[in-house]
Amino acid sequence: MAVKERGGAMPENGLGRREILGVAGVAACGLALAGCGTGGAKAQQSIKGKVIAKTADVPVGGGKLIEDLQLVVTQPAEGVYKAFSSVCTHKGCAVSTPKENIIKCACHGSEFAADSGKATKGPATAPLASFQIKVEGDGIVVV
Ligand code: FES
Repeated sequence: MAVKERGGAMPENGLGRREILGVAGVAACGLALAGCGTGGAKAQQSIKGKVIAKTADVPVGGGKLIEDLQLVVTQPAEGVYKAFSSVCTHKGCAVSTPKENIIKCACHGSEFAADSGKATKGPATAPLASFQIKVEGDGIVVV
């Protein structure tokens, strides 16, 4: 989605540069794979059946970022795998690789539970969008 410009003129509604960038960020959200409201469900359809990671690459208590898909896969307990959007629900930064069952966002310090995606420390309050996955052989597949 392109953000339309109006001849380069600033809007007359009092929005400053920061607000405009914020609106552009929301618009870009529609292009993102996941993490924007109901985008997770739609994105899930687009990657259904795809192997997104190998189980060997996802340590227990840790996880793996799949940057091109904007996903993070975790293994909160031995043999239990979860997948979430890697787009922080606060302002859209990419989260960091999970450690000690915590998915952190370095931008403003939010933390999310690696087993549920639930926001456990603000400023984010909404959970990371989750994806349904299954293990097939040594691969983690979106279902
Ligand atoms: S964007 Fe992640 S904490 Fe602000």
